[in-house]
Amino acid sequence: MKKFLIKGGKKLVGTVEVSGAKNAILPILAACLLTRGKSVLTNVPRLVDLKTMAHLLRVIGARIEYFDGSLEVDTSDVCFPEAPYELVSQMRASIYVLGPLLVKFKKAKVSFPGGCAIGARPIDLHLTALEQMGAKFETKKGYLYATTDELKGAEINFSNVSVGATCHILMTATLAKGKTIMRNCAKEPEIDSLIDFLVKMGAKIKGKSTSTLEIDGVKELFPVGMEMMPDRIEAGTFLIAGAITNSEITVSNCYPEHLGALILKLQQAGFKIDVTENSMTIFPIDKILPVDIVTAPYPSFPTDLQAQFLTLMTLAQGISHVEDTIFPDRFMHVPELNRLQANITQEKGKARIEGVKELSGAEVMATDLRASAALVLAGLAAEGETIVSRIYHIDRGYDNIEGKLTKLGANIARIEE
Ligand code: UD1
Repeated sequence: MKKFLIKGGKKLVGTVEVSGAKNAILPILAACLLTRGKSVLTNVPRLVDLKTMAHLLRVIGARIEYFDGSLEVDTSDVCFPEAPYELVSQMRASIYVLGPLLVKFKKAKVSFPGGCAIGARPIDLHLTALEQMGAKFETKKGYLYATTDELKGAEINFSNVSVGATCHILMTATLAKGKTIMRNCAKEPEIDSLIDFLVKMGAKIKGKSTSTLEIDGVKELFPVGMEMMPDRIEAGTFLIAGAITNSEITVSNCYPEHLGALILKLQQAGFKIDVTENSMTIFPIDKILPVDIVTAPYPSFPTDLQAQFLTLMTLAQGISHVEDTIFPDRFMHVPELNRLQANITQEKGKARIEGVKELSGAEVMATDLRASAALVLAGLAAEGETIVSRIYHIDRGYDNIEGKLTKLGANIARIEE
């Protein structure tokens, strides 16, 4: 198994380019199943989660080619509406294939996703909405057997704001018979990007960027090409890398408008950030002020940047609080950060961070995707050597993070155990 060896305390300098957004590409890949033919996605990074999704689509019968940042998805011969446990258990976004398969084939067999390092992640909202649209479910041996005579439009009022359920039901409704109205939808930019893709394919959707979406089902969708939006979480992670190493760096090829909540919190912590339409530059400061954050659905502070921002607060001058209302168990990074001499106490859903003068390098273990990014950030700031193990988590969502950080002047290497 590979690890990162980080020699901390170095200032970063220069510009880092953000890759395409994992959380936008995953649902778009599933949406390719709604059509027959070859769709082409550009600005696609090399990520393990995308490979897992591509593998799943191949199992279902799609042909997929990747070269030079482009992904060709040919669904002409898709014929096998099944998602096996080995793949679904590796990545929860696999559940997105259920609705598209059901609306196309009137049946699907999909493994239940199972547990997850960041806490309970149920799929009840997905299933209840599909039932309202005419799906019937049976569960046997860890698998969900779905059937329908025909999926029909319905009025769906989500009881909770869910990115996954919004994407899943939205794409399914594009081919369901009649009108679907979805209320209390998530409004994340990745959902807008899915809407753009579906509309390009011929779907009829109203209400983009709002919490109510209206979809008029169409008979057929057509394959298209589209450039994938930049990853706001990767952009945010690099911005925090600049902050925690007290450096001047520019994060380019991103949409700062997607990161309003983070930019505001960094400004409250004392950082000056210059923003253009597609770049952000952060500047060094004398002291980091403590700032509280509470994660909530977009446009509030994203849960996917909670671990990274909490890590920055370990070096603030004073006490800050972090609350995660989306995933209250998502604090596995806390004990690891305390191994680096951070001073964090934690109870269900909340952490209290007492800033320390410096972090001190040690061996730590990554537990999930964003927690591993947080540990890398801590390692960049810590005195001495930090070794981060189980970095396969980071490869799920960051394309060559060590290469990009090295280009900025960090001392980070991927080493064999
Ligand atoms: C969530 C994040 C997303 C992030 C992803 C991976 C939000 C709103 N969503 O998306 O930004 O990229 O994690 O870290 O910040 N829920 C149910 N039943 C369901 C589905 C969800 O109760 O069927 C609950 C979840 O437990 C959670 C909340 O709703 O508390 C939001 O979940 P959801 O948005 O679906 O999670 P993801 O799509 O995985």
